[in-house]
Amino acid sequence: MEHLKQETASGAQLNMDALYQICPQCFTESKDPKTGEVKHAVDFEKLRLLLGDNVAEGDERYDFTWVGKRAALQEAAKPIRKTLRPYPEESVDWENTKNLYIEGDNLEVLKLLQNSYMGKVKMIYIDPPYNTGNDFVYQDDFHQTKQDYDFFSGDVTEEGERLVKNTESNGRFHSDWCSMIYSRLMVARNLLKEDGVIFISIDDNEVENLRRICNEVFGEYNFIANLIWQKKFSRANDAMYFSTMHDHIICVAKNNLAKDEKGWKIGLLPRGDELPSGYGNPDNDPRGPWTSVILSAKSGSPSLIYEITTPSGRKCLPPSGRYWSCSKDTFEKWRSDNRIWFGSDGDGTPRKKTFLSEVQAGLRPNTILFQDEVGNNQEAKQETKALFDGLGVFDGPKPVRLLYTLGIIANLDKNDIVVDFFSGSATTAHAVMQLNAEDGGTRKFIMVQWPEECDEESEAFKAGYKNICDIGKERIRRAGKIILEEQKAKKGDLFSGDQKPLDVGFRVFKCADSNMKDVYYTPAEYSQELLLGLEDNIKEDRNDLDLLFGCMLDWGVTLDLPLRTEKVDGVTIHIVNDGDLVACFDQNIPESAIDHIASLLPMRVVLRDSCFKEAKEKMNFFEIFKQRTGWSEEEVKKNVKVI
Ligand SMILES: C[S@@+](CC[C@H](N)C(=O)[O-])C[C@H]1O[C@@H](n2cnc3c(N)ncnc32)[C@H](O)[C@@H]1O
Repeated sequence: MEHLKQETASGAQLNMDALYQICPQCFTESKDPKTGEVKHAVDFEKLRLLLGDNVAEGDERYDFTWVGKRAALQEAAKPIRKTLRPYPEESVDWENTKNLYIEGDNLEVLKLLQNSYMGKVKMIYIDPPYNTGNDFVYQDDFHQTKQDYDFFSGDVTEEGERLVKNTESNGRFHSDWCSMIYSRLMVARNLLKEDGVIFISIDDNEVENLRRICNEVFGEYNFIANLIWQKKFSRANDAMYFSTMHDHIICVAKNNLAKDEKGWKIGLLPRGDELPSGYGNPDNDPRGPWTSVILSAKSGSPSLIYEITTPSGRKCLPPSGRYWSCSKDTFEKWRSDNRIWFGSDGDGTPRKKTFLSEVQAGLRPNTILFQDEVGNNQEAKQETKALFDGLGVFDGPKPVRLLYTLGIIANLDKNDIVVDFFSGSATTAHAVMQLNAEDGGTRKFIMVQWPEECDEESEAFKAGYKNICDIGKERIRRAGKIILEEQKAKKGDLFSGDQKPLDVGFRVFKCADSNMKDVYYTPAEYSQELLLGLEDNIKEDRNDLDLLFGCMLDWGVTLDLPLRTEKVDGVTIHIVNDGDLVACFDQNIPESAIDHIASLLPMRVVLRDSCFKEAKEKMNFFEIFKQRTGWSEEEVKKNVKVI
């Protein structure tokens, strides 16, 4: 039985897989000069031939680069040996919720989510540090020589590493920010659905670099708009030059609809009371406002010249040299449906009514998001204060209305997934719950946030919130409660009919070192003696639930699925979504348990190496399992793994 890798996918492998889909011809087998292993590799010469004249030659080409770009690219592709540990006790409605709150560095978390969420996310919103000279920017491993650190002016967090203040005196002030965002966007892109979209908040400090990076990561063609969000309503008269009233929100589609019919379609905003010009409702038609077009055309056939009697009794024909634009039958149908307009006196030339509700479902969004429509910084501050009993627990949240509007523009289906991997006070989660409350949707959110420590002097710290994750989780708890109460007040009976109860819960996970000891990855480096002395390859502090989620990540199973356990002759069997994955991590599994696992008709099975005392027992399991499931040898090999 094969071992699960317990390591994230390598970016290089993912690229190879994608390339193989479009040109398998340029793949060959070659021998690794170091290990002698024969492996699948790209025949570059063949690829070059396949691309014809479209290969960049020579030194001159359009390129956007910075110090550390290569390393950032490598970092994005590098696999990691980490896991997400579940924390049911910090979660809300652990059993039923489909929402996730993940604590950790977002690059690592994105890598961990890749297998399970690749191509499944409809909307990503991020609000990264803007690099104003005062921001803390997460230091990835890739430029971590001691000298690199010296560029930074200090301000290393208590944990002694990682989140570092990026000041303008840093010789790589822009480069470090570019590397940080580039590697994250590279991985995040993989999560987006083909008709997905990403929105990125930013200001003038890095907007230029961000746009170029987006062009490179997503393809220039998929840039949709640089939206302007009016974040303030009052002028700062003490500004040296301009009073800055806006932020940018860069909108990029995974695929542009203009080039790909499966690409992102924009969502239209609700109309409200605003009527487009030319529309009215002079006859109080219950179908709402309409406009009209003349009923005659330049070309047609003789059958399109017939007499129409107006309500006033006047007989009329099409104007000379013209034809009616519909047959007599169609005209009669439209007339009886009150779709023909003869003017308010009933004596005019007939016109065809076109109802607003039938042509356009809503308003096409503007590139400027005005504060009176989507909220401003002040409103956002008040919102979080109101949720936290008047305390200013978080600096610089975004308003819920802004995220709510972006959710509509993103054209979210009722059960789409929304990700925010710089989630701060979790405004995005709040907006997703609000959207669901209003239309009975079951959209899910995934929030990712580094447990950035709160300043000991801050109101948040004094109120007991040690880090930003504590604030984000509490915000979702409080906002969820209020939304539920509001919904109840509006609808009375919440869960009537077939509408699902509103999901205001979330499962908490924390990014941590692998569940496996080093020996799991590099057994060859350990002596036989040492191996015999090692009881197990799993770290002592890990429990069944840790192992289960580690396997789910590894095998590409989403983390929101329902879980249950069953006991058979003293061993515990974990069942994910009625059999998407079945796991047993106990020692010495009796035959009755093997039978039970097989009877569940699982898609995948994971066991622990130490479930079997000896190799012979493993073989025995293999054989019994084949018999009970009717699976072929190949199927058992593919679907049953050990850790
Ligand atoms: C500008 S705030 C986001 C605010 C959020 N939009 C809101 O409405 O509350 C950016 C957040 O990203 C977090 N952050 C920065 N680097 C991170 C990283 N590498 N991984 C995860 N979170 C990070 C910071 O701690 C900060 O809370």
